[in-house]
Amino acid sequence: MSETRSYPRHVKTDAGEIEFRMMSRADEAAVLAFAQKLPTHDLLFLPRNISQPKVLSAWVNEIERGQIVSLLAVKAGAVVGCGTLVRDPHSWSPHVGEIRMVVSLDVRGQGVGRALSQETFALALGAGLEKLSVQMTVDQQAAIALFESLGFRAEALLRDHVRDVDGKKHDIIVLGHNVAQVRAQMEAYGLPGAVQH
Ligand SMILES: CC(C)(COP(=O)(O)OP(=O)(O)OC[C@H]1O[C@@H](n2cnc3c(N)ncnc32)[C@H](O)[C@@H]1OP(=O)(O)O)[C@@H](O)C(=O)NCCC(=O)NCCS
Repeated sequence: MSETRSYPRHVKTDAGEIEFRMMSRADEAAVLAFAQKLPTHDLLFLPRNISQPKVLSAWVNEIERGQIVSLLAVKAGAVVGCGTLVRDPHSWSPHVGEIRMVVSLDVRGQGVGRALSQETFALALGAGLEKLSVQMTVDQQAAIALFESLGFRAEALLRDHVRDVDGKKHDIIVLGHNVAQVRAQMEAYGLPGAVQH
């Protein structure tokens, strides 16, 4: 995956200064510790439970094969957030990327998620993607508000689509964003530099 943004980057948030950097194998233990502290309900939007070491290790393998890019938000050496861009250039949707994002409970509501979503969004634009999607359980009001504020709109509702550890089923909402249209609008306004990073 080609991305032209350079990392690490430092961003000031209400939670203090956050470092954004690419996740690699060296981060496996730190990301596992982060994932295991998250409520499992907050992981239902993911295809697999990342609080399990085997799943995390498969994730790192995908990063190394270049199939996904994950950005970590790090505060004072601890992982406090993660934003991932997933795409499959060999599928019928090579132009589509999925964003997956989660922030630790102790820093929520302090701007880390917004900064992380902006970074991940910029990565997707830099990779030349035309459409982005995100999905989450319908009760994730913060996530829905955040992505709607970035221009995502609801595209699908998948009823009883995921089952939690207690066997309870939850609906999933899928939001989409036609970023190609945004790029075209920027260019129409004479702002091509605004979409280069
Ligand atoms: C979505 C998530 C990453 C947001 O992280 P965060 O660090 O709390 O986000 P921020 O503090 O930057 O807030 C971003 C926006 O979310 C919205 N928001 C935050 N907390 C909210 C709340 N309690 N209720 C409603 N909206 C809220 C606001 O629109 C806010 O925008 P603002 O910048 O104008 O205030 C976090 O809630 C999370 O990890 N949720 C669980 C995982 C999930 O469902 N991910 C979505 C799948 S992609």
